[in-house]
Amino acid sequence: MKVLGIETSCDETAAAVVIRAPDGAGHIASDVILSQVDAHAVFGGVVPEIAARAHVEALDRVIAAAMRDARLGFGDIDAVAATAGPGLIGGVIVGLTTAKAIALAAGKPLIAINHLEGHALTARLTDRVSFPFLLLLVSGGHTQFVAVEGVAEYRRLGSTIDDALGEAFDKAAKLLGLGYPGGPEIEKAAIRGNGKRFALPRPLLDRPEPDFSLSGLKTALRLAAEKIAPLSTGDVDDLAASFQAAVTDMVADRAAKAMALFAGQHPDVAKRTLVIAGGVAANRAIRERLVTVASKEGFTLVAPPARLCADNAVMIAWAGAERLALGMSDPLDAAARPRWPLDELARPMLGSGAKGTKA
Ligand code: KG4
Ligand code: ZN
Repeated sequence: MKVLGIETSCDETAAAVVIRAPDGAGHIASDVILSQVDAHAVFGGVVPEIAARAHVEALDRVIAAAMRDARLGFGDIDAVAATAGPGLIGGVIVGLTTAKAIALAAGKPLIAINHLEGHALTARLTDRVSFPFLLLLVSGGHTQFVAVEGVAEYRRLGSTIDDALGEAFDKAAKLLGLGYPGGPEIEKAAIRGNGKRFALPRPLLDRPEPDFSLSGLKTALRLAAEKIAPLSTGDVDDLAASFQAAVTDMVADRAAKAMALFAGQHPDVAKRTLVIAGGVAANRAIRERLVTVASKEGFTLVAPPARLCADNAVMIAWAGAERLALGMSDPLDAAARPRWPLDELARPMLGSGAKGTKA
């Protein structure tokens, strides 16, 4: 089963072809990503209008390159999958409309993918993880623990009550005068710095639910920086390291809670897996800490390669292939959605109180 995937929900214009064997094994036939990061860096964040225009200009070429790398024509593929949300709506419309045009012209099914489902299912392509598993999704726009019970069966166990983790890294970097995107910059500075110099708060640690709150930490970082301004390079490194230490502690504590919750809900599952996904999953300090916490809780940590943790089209093509294998596809009038919670994709369960039925 060969699926073309298209991703345009943020600042990456991406297309990829993934092949899924009948036994569920996946193979990446091509993976093209054109980052717009330079176009947005001068503004310190993604500018939606610039992003949408850049997607329009680049997408045809990016898709052509993905097809060429895979040595396939549109007639050879089995479906076209595109991110239909959540994300910056201008960009999402560009990708989804292009996918519809290809699907219509080539007579292939369209699969409208939730971007978060793409992140959620990546570990099944890279590590053949079986259902159910626990997912920690940490990106620029999302921070949540999700019980992934099956394709289109998601249950959110906890989330952030204010900023997303990646957003907090980006804001912290901006505050410290580091570049954009902030996560990799903070990580680099933190390696040089002393993470114990500033005692920053770890909000919500006393809560039993695996939720996050980042705004208090952000404020504390700002106050600590203002107190010792002007900042030397060493100060910036120490602040970055102290910030990353606080975030890492928070993630470790919340993950332990989420794993205990998941284990309690799945007492019969012998092989327990914690999967991390999203751009922040590229952070080595967080990854290393999670390996330790996971093994303490009886879980194995699975972290896809950093390139597949950040936004890409392989994950969209793969989610499309997983859906296609179950006979799922979408009509050509499928809507682009700026907001689209992952657990809304869940099949209603008996007694869950969910209204309506989703295919
Ligand atoms: O998943 P992603 O590529 O895009 C979406 O938000 O969907 O995630 C991007 C986010 C940015 O906020 C970026 O700062 C953060 O992931 N990030 C990191 C690292 N690399 C990227 N955060 C912490 N450490 C990193 N090494
Ligand atoms: Zn993402």
